[in-house]
Amino acid sequence: MSADNAEPALLVDPAQRIFKVARRNFVDREIFEAEKERLFDRCWLYLGHSSELPKPGDFITRSVAGRNILFARDSKQRLRALLNTCPHRGAQVCRERKGNAKSFQCFYHGWTFSADGKLRGQPGEDSYPEDFKARSTSNMQPVPRYESYRDFNFISFDPDIVPLEQYLGNAKEYLDVICDQTGAGMSIVAGSQEYSIRANWKLLTENSIDGYHAVTTHASYFDILMNTTDNMSAGTGGGFGYDLGGGHAVLEYGAPWGRPVAQWIPGWGEAGKTEIARQYDNLVALYGKERADRIALKNRNLFIFPNLVVNDIMALTVRTYFPMAPDYMVINAWALAPNDETAWARKYRLNNFLEFLGPGGFATPDDAEALEHCQRGFKNSKEALWNDISKGMGKDKPSHNDELQMRAFWTQWNRLMFPTPVPSIKDVAA
Ligand code: FES
Ligand code: FE
Repeated sequence: MSADNAEPALLVDPAQRIFKVARRNFVDREIFEAEKERLFDRCWLYLGHSSELPKPGDFITRSVAGRNILFARDSKQRLRALLNTCPHRGAQVCRERKGNAKSFQCFYHGWTFSADGKLRGQPGEDSYPEDFKARSTSNMQPVPRYESYRDFNFISFDPDIVPLEQYLGNAKEYLDVICDQTGAGMSIVAGSQEYSIRANWKLLTENSIDGYHAVTTHASYFDILMNTTDNMSAGTGGGFGYDLGGGHAVLEYGAPWGRPVAQWIPGWGEAGKTEIARQYDNLVALYGKERADRIALKNRNLFIFPNLVVNDIMALTVRTYFPMAPDYMVINAWALAPNDETAWARKYRLNNFLEFLGPGGFATPDDAEALEHCQRGFKNSKEALWNDISKGMGKDKPSHNDELQMRAFWTQWNRLMFPTPVPSIKDVAA
């Protein structure tokens, strides 16, 4: 297949500080098909957050890498990830997006299942053998692998994949920092943002961990902030990008504006001041000053390979996205928040979730526009072959405005897409 034998996908020479990405990786249909098989069928993929299903019987249906998944909490409080297809003749069993149910009845012939996927009954039961219900093949099938970390639930279609915690590796520490914003637990705020961009999905990966573009792409948003916020520079500081291994990467940097967690700016008035002081004191009591300062005063853009972004910035956003075509992706995003924050802080958080990060806000449309412009630029990819992501290459500690994070992603992408070929017998004999 041409995905395997065409020109190289990357051009890398550390000595000369060259790191280039072939633009055909963003447009080629065979690459797109190979990504489904080699990445999305093989990696851990984000399904949802445990807080979305607080009570027994709660369920959500979601599309993950093209599959229909039923994510449910059973009567014993256990979370289940099932393939949403009837073992009888294939119909999608649950047709609602979310809700609460004691059981799920397939609309076609009426087979009924409990939230753990077990067949409970079917019309005309006496026409089946007595042990029919006891057969595992009569039940809805669980997703091949399902595990969770800190209430982030992941699935994989590869039964042999390494355990989730091993897969997350160094990214776990950053998820811990994000989840430790309170001792009271974190929950997804009801509702989600769903939108699409006419661009390749990898452009959003790059954009989500790209500190370089903010000042130019989001110039108008920063103008507004400068004119409406009393202390735009509160907490401003440098930061760094980190390659976390396994394709995961993060930027961690000083927050240039107030955050809903523990960083006050004068424009917020007394309500904000009291709430921020309470949050900060809680963090110090829980973890000591050093960790409290890291949680409260830093922003983080965390990327978990291949398609999960957790932006811990002026709101906390969980975002996942899937390719539908080489030049088209769909995106889902949710706001995550401490359970014990006040109405004031929640309002501020949700304003930011909509105003900066939302598809109708001040920043995400800028990003979508930039990504679609790149995709249009790639129409010239037969002649103009390469993207350059070498910024900061060779530095001991690349800054958060460098492009180390993207190199981490692309290196793993390349490793999984084009594993070193096993030598043929002829090669070995020679
Ligand atoms: Fe579900 Fe027949 S396909 S009951
Ligand atoms: Fe942006």
